[in-house]
Amino acid sequence: MSDTEDPIKPWGGRFNETTDAFVERFTASIEFDKRLYHHDIDGSIAHARMLHKTGILDSDEEQQIIDGLESIRADIAANKFQWSVALEDVHMNIEAALTERIGATGKKLHTGRSRNDQIATDIRLYVRDEIDEMATSLTDLQSALLGLAEREADTIMPGFTHLQTAQPVTFGHHLMAWFEMLDRDYSRLIDCRKRVNLSPLGAAALAGTGFPIDREYTASLLGFDMPTGNSLDSVSDRDFAIELAAFASLLMTHLSRFSEELVLWTSAQFDFVELPDRFCTGSSIMPQKKNPDVPELVRGKTGRIYGHLISLLTLMKSQPLAYNKDNQEDKEPLFDMIDTVKDCLKAYIELLPAIVAKKDNMYQAALKGYATATDLADYLVNKGLPFRDAHEVVGTAVAAAIEKNQALTDFSLAELQAFSALVTEDVFEILALEGSVAARNHIGGTAPNQVRAAIEIAKKNLAHR
Ligand code: ARG
Repeated sequence: MSDTEDPIKPWGGRFNETTDAFVERFTASIEFDKRLYHHDIDGSIAHARMLHKTGILDSDEEQQIIDGLESIRADIAANKFQWSVALEDVHMNIEAALTERIGATGKKLHTGRSRNDQIATDIRLYVRDEIDEMATSLTDLQSALLGLAEREADTIMPGFTHLQTAQPVTFGHHLMAWFEMLDRDYSRLIDCRKRVNLSPLGAAALAGTGFPIDREYTASLLGFDMPTGNSLDSVSDRDFAIELAAFASLLMTHLSRFSEELVLWTSAQFDFVELPDRFCTGSSIMPQKKNPDVPELVRGKTGRIYGHLISLLTLMKSQPLAYNKDNQEDKEPLFDMIDTVKDCLKAYIELLPAIVAKKDNMYQAALKGYATATDLADYLVNKGLPFRDAHEVVGTAVAAAIEKNQALTDFSLAELQAFSALVTEDVFEILALEGSVAARNHIGGTAPNQVRAAIEIAKKNLAHR
């Protein structure tokens, strides 16, 4: 060891100068990767147990290492651990502390592994835990939606295309559309978990190790389904993080769409729903304001999740095999992404059950905009008129109603018969909103009994998760 060498660095042996202070700060990841300490210690304990099983450590050494790591874990949890930037990352901070605490045995822990398979293992363990938490939250959010949809299965509102009144639907039906989006998110998340839950431990730096390791044993100790394959791929693969970011991006797209609708619906112009005061804020200048900040922020935070997806994709696109220091840049996007998604899910889990539908306003809005014009056309088709002709007749009737600034139901029977002789007294049932929604009585339709059937199926599916 030369006297200019920084003695603290575990890799200091081949260096003749101390690290430049800026470079030390620039290359360190400890500020953000320290949050992986639990997973790092779990991985190290599994590795130590394996080293004992294969005869590399004796049982006394194994026990000293495990006890040392547990005491470090306790100190970190109690905020009593001194992190050092000079020790670069979570792995070297913990390893150095171990040797400080238990002496030379601590130096044996790194036998047959590298920080490259260590970090790959840590992130997978961390991501797996977070996936499980997000899966539970998604299920809670979906249950909240089912509760609300059940309550609103008969509530009539206008359905929109192009944000123009199209046909009446039920609010329960609209909420079940949200449910379906989240259902796909859930299945993407669970599918991603399969590719996360593999153990890279034992791939070592890139080529594997000459020590007699037992990769299946460490994999099973850590709850992984099995070891990863090819060692080069094992240390360099971050596909699972990108997949998670793709899941998160789509989930946020959905939450952002919900948010957009809530923002529109709480405006004076729509006035369809009321959000609880505790989820809104006021204006410092306009006393009447109640702003839907929480949905707006969820919508706003979507952008940074997309950003993280692009960051991670770009991070990987030019990396030659195997591990490169670039990979250290995967952590901040990943952490922020997971923290943000969890907050947004939490916001929605609490917000949704507290939404109050203003049923009367929804109903009045559905009466406007000729929402049952299609029903009238279908009615004429059922009486034998070809659909295109029926469309034409109803178009003329709607134009006449617009001209008179009235609803289709304001026409008398005789006036409607002037548009088509096929019209009879029963037309008024067809033009009613209730008749319109009840008529869409098939799988996936808006009829209240179909909405209830969809809710029942969804409840069963959630119960089987
Ligand atoms: N801090 C590094 C990372 O986050 C750990 C692995 C470092 N390996 C290395 N050979 N420099 O990726």
